[in-house]
Amino acid sequence: MSDVVLETVGLRKHYAVRRGLFKPMATVRALDGVSFRLEAGRTLAVVGESGCGKSTLARSVTMIEPPTEGRLLYDGRDLTGRSAPEMKELRRTVQMVFQNPYGSLNPRKTVGSILGEPLVINTGLSKAERRERVLAMMNKVGLRSDQIDRYPHMFSGGQRQRIAIARALMLEPRVVVADEPVSALDVSIQAQVLNLMMDLQEEMKLAYLFISHDLSVVRHLADDVMVMYLGRPVEHGPKDVIYDRPRHPYTRILMAATPRVNPALRGERAVPRGELPSPLNPPPGCPFHKRCPHARPNCATDVPALREVDQRLVACHYAEEMA
Ligand SMILES: Nc1ncnc2c1ncn2[C@@H]1O[C@H](COP(=O)(O)OP(=O)(O)OP(=O)(O)O)[C@@H](O)[C@H]1O
Ligand code: SF4
Ligand SMILES: [Mg+2]
Repeated sequence: MSDVVLETVGLRKHYAVRRGLFKPMATVRALDGVSFRLEAGRTLAVVGESGCGKSTLARSVTMIEPPTEGRLLYDGRDLTGRSAPEMKELRRTVQMVFQNPYGSLNPRKTVGSILGEPLVINTGLSKAERRERVLAMMNKVGLRSDQIDRYPHMFSGGQRQRIAIARALMLEPRVVVADEPVSALDVSIQAQVLNLMMDLQEEMKLAYLFISHDLSVVRHLADDVMVMYLGRPVEHGPKDVIYDRPRHPYTRILMAATPRVNPALRGERAVPRGELPSPLNPPPGCPFHKRCPHARPNCATDVPALREVDQRLVACHYAEEMA
């Protein structure tokens, strides 16, 4: 039986921006139609180059910045039209871990109060009970109980990210959205934090929406992968299917740039032509056509739909030929 804990349908996030003092407002389509389902205990990795909308997706699905359009379901329950108390209850089930463990922890609070705060706001537990929960969680994430009265600056980057993970888990969420959770850390520390996340996933049956630009990290821990380009998914499916035979030219370029994840693509183009277009003014037709090594004339005019080809979804007119 499927246990879908997070679902989005046609999620969009548009920002109104002014391009100059006397110019009219324009629209940045940072997220432009994203649909996926995430089941308990599974990891969906979101990949794509800088500016493709990964963090916007994270902020939208966590309701840090509510989406402009589309449906969002937590635990099978649509968020629209909920009363404030229902919303508060639902929001507990989806928590976020940010990229920067320095900026996301209040420097004036001890670990004990950072971890205890969600319990103060959301539960009726006594001070002693809260302390017990905090200590149990510190133990779970590999922090020592005698560190409870220390401040964030007294910890290393890796330990700070452990604190941030602990904070996200205090209310026993079902989903953790992790936006590049290890990319600010030394490479030697990254594996420790990733292993911790995988252990916690198993223990707590957590679902992860895991955002990363590192395809070798993603290969390690994803069940499914969604590749984004200019705010839209261009290829989405089971990790092995996509890693073994990427069928979108953009995915192939990302993979060719990380040769150890797919040696078969060695020798293929590893950098797309030209610059990433502005999401203020996306190209007509296939959004990737100006940079695509396989583009044909109709790619400049016909928008490729996301469709099923060989066990994954892919938005390319010529996906069948990419083997
Ligand atoms: N508040 C905002 N106002 C206007 N535009 C925004 C805003 N936030 C993001 N954008 C734009 O939306 C697009 C997607 O940005 P986003 O931060 O989601 O990308 P990203 O994939 O997380 O990139 P990175 O890998 O660099 O973190 C970018 O073009 C960005 O400039
Ligand atoms: S539709 Fe055309 S331009 Fe777009 S990715 Fe496929 S081949 Fe390239
Ligand atoms: Mg980002």
